[in-house]
Amino acid sequence: MIKTFTVAISMFTLCAVHSQTQMPTQGKQDIEQKINTLMAKMTLEEKVGQMNQYNGFWDVTGPSPKEGNAALKYEHLRKGWVGSMLSVRGVKEVRAVQKIAVEETRLGIPLIIGFDVIHGYKTLSPIPLAEAASWDMDAVKRSAQVAADEASASGINWTFGPMVDISRDARWGRVMEGAGEDPYLGSKVAAARVQGFQGDTKADLAKPNTIAACAKHFAGYGFAEAGREYNTVDMSNSTLYNIVLPPFKAAKDAGVRTFMNSFNTLNGIPATGNSFLQRDILKGKWGFDGFVITDWASIREMITWGFAKDRKEASLKAVSAGADMDMESYAYVNELVKLVNEGKVDISLIDDAVKRILRVKYELGLFDDPYRYCNEKREKTVINSKANHEAVLDVAKKSIVLLKNDNHLLPLKKTGQKIALIGALAADKNSPLGSWRIASDDNTAVSVLEGMQQYKGNSLHYEKGADLIVGKATFLDEVVYNTTDRSGYEAAKKAAKEADVVVMVLGEHGFSSGEARSRTSIDLPGLQQELLEEIYKVNPNIVLVLNNGRPLALPWAAAHIPAIVEAWQLGTETGNAVAQVLYGDYNPSGKLPMSFPRNLGQVPIYYNLLNTGRPVDADKNVFWSHYSDVEKTPQFAFGHGLSYTTFKYSAPKANKTTYTKGEAVKIQVNITNTGAYDGKEVAQLYIQDVTASLARPIKELKGFEMVSLKKGESKTVTFTLTDNELGFYDNNGNYIVEPGIFKVFVGTSSDDVQELEFELK
Ligand code: BGC
Repeated sequence: MIKTFTVAISMFTLCAVHSQTQMPTQGKQDIEQKINTLMAKMTLEEKVGQMNQYNGFWDVTGPSPKEGNAALKYEHLRKGWVGSMLSVRGVKEVRAVQKIAVEETRLGIPLIIGFDVIHGYKTLSPIPLAEAASWDMDAVKRSAQVAADEASASGINWTFGPMVDISRDARWGRVMEGAGEDPYLGSKVAAARVQGFQGDTKADLAKPNTIAACAKHFAGYGFAEAGREYNTVDMSNSTLYNIVLPPFKAAKDAGVRTFMNSFNTLNGIPATGNSFLQRDILKGKWGFDGFVITDWASIREMITWGFAKDRKEASLKAVSAGADMDMESYAYVNELVKLVNEGKVDISLIDDAVKRILRVKYELGLFDDPYRYCNEKREKTVINSKANHEAVLDVAKKSIVLLKNDNHLLPLKKTGQKIALIGALAADKNSPLGSWRIASDDNTAVSVLEGMQQYKGNSLHYEKGADLIVGKATFLDEVVYNTTDRSGYEAAKKAAKEADVVVMVLGEHGFSSGEARSRTSIDLPGLQQELLEEIYKVNPNIVLVLNNGRPLALPWAAAHIPAIVEAWQLGTETGNAVAQVLYGDYNPSGKLPMSFPRNLGQVPIYYNLLNTGRPVDADKNVFWSHYSDVEKTPQFAFGHGLSYTTFKYSAPKANKTTYTKGEAVKIQVNITNTGAYDGKEVAQLYIQDVTASLARPIKELKGFEMVSLKKGESKTVTFTLTDNELGFYDNNGNYIVEPGIFKVFVGTSSDDVQELEFELK
């Protein structure tokens, strides 16, 4: 009886709430009015409930709190104490929890359903670092669209992506999840991903095939000391404003509806309790009107950091600092009501957070139809569709970077060659999926072996050489590499000896990068380096195909192996993409988004460094900024990437030599395809502000352009520099453009450019 009564009430209220949203326009004013009307009906407990997010009943991505049992979560759901769930997936499951929120709670406020759709849902694109290597923003956007398409067909309406953390440290496992080391490229990628997930306009967000995006992790996480996961971050204002924050700002400007804070401290203050980041910058200076979700249990972790004495104080600090929704800390749901009643937290803070959360729910159309994303027909037809496979294959090809190609060893001839394919990774259907693939099924990638088998004009002999790992690689466990079993060496050497060309697929397992997967060496793990050298002894005609989720340091390979292809972890269509590149059906066009060091001792290494006072050995003695044992330059520089054809750049020209502030600087360069294949080139433009009130980097990327050129064809590329490109942030976060001499560098990579100069008055 009582239950029927409760349902009747809530259905009535639900109709009342929903009927207000039937108007065709979802204008801002309209939504704000609806929010206010709804909030006037909400109790404090219900408001706090909106600020509480629970994990589903599986897929824990962090330590599982003791309170986290299903019975309690259901009880809280029914009371209206849960505003969001993460990692619930599938129309049936999402519909079930949504039904409780909508039909069994007093006000029937729908849940927003979050999920880590990092590089695809079921059909996986390349890992984000790889995608960034495409420098192709249409491809990056398309990839996010595919992810949104499939996730939304599975009941999900919010992804915890894009991750926009800049990082200069290859030890950090999460570099695979970002766009690399550069804030300019990172900003373009951030915007493209946001638009891919959400659509181009705010109105697009309510479409059933778009989802809300989340710029994470705010902020500084990519600078974890020594690349060790979850570690301390200390950084200068200059680095924060000029390197770390720009991609977040770009995501905000592209309309991202949520932000996630981060696990790290920033200069002593945990990001979750950091009011400077969340209130002053994000919600203050940038005027962000969406909401901030904490990272997993990061409110609770402020106690471990020694920043709060208990969960109550942690909640007080987090809510005061602007963290709107608590992911799995069980902090807000247990403490905020008390804190308000005791007068320690002003109700206006709660109201502000709840408004933000409701706003995004309205924008997603959840009040119009809470089951908008629960369409069984879409679930059956969209997920794993042919079109999505074709789209991720396209992105995968574009993400491959040709690092080295001596004597035109590549592309492989399509007929008459004997090829030995060696390496356990070549036949691996699991590793290419990477580590962030919660919804995807194991062993569903096309392996390199399968991809190459489709080219039937050659004889192909596969030998693994050595197992890569011992046991099974999983999301929760450390990967253990094989360091002892060499039993496959002889067969591999025999195959190599008999072959014209050897293709070796080596690198890291997909579960060696990603969250909590920091490494102190960035070489080929296990027996792979040894195997490579053994094979080289019998046949040096090797094409090395790398699979990895971070820059690797491979000095021996760089010196000895004639052809090296960076193939990352490319997702579901890996093998097809790699084979098409190896055989020349796709001419590689990718460029590195992160410097590849010569050895780990150079890390952090990045192209946009400051000069030092002694950058060269002017006096021919030891007293200059260098290493005694290795060159200070990277092995493969940021922006490096070859093609099967060659491109010649003319000397770049500016339209004037002197400009006044505010005037557009036009730089032109002519590029000619001088080789034997049609191809695409990413022309890059860098600047140096030669004298400024803060020391500025020796090069900063400020423009790039992808040019398609047929054999023999030439095109002129025009870059435009405005105040948006010529300025920088001072130590107070003010953007300034200072007059003086600027150098401009145009070329094929950060270390292969031609230079000119202009003056800004
Ligand atoms: C990660 C976030 C992720 C969250 C939810 C955390 O461990 O740092 O990036 O979105 O888990 O799975």
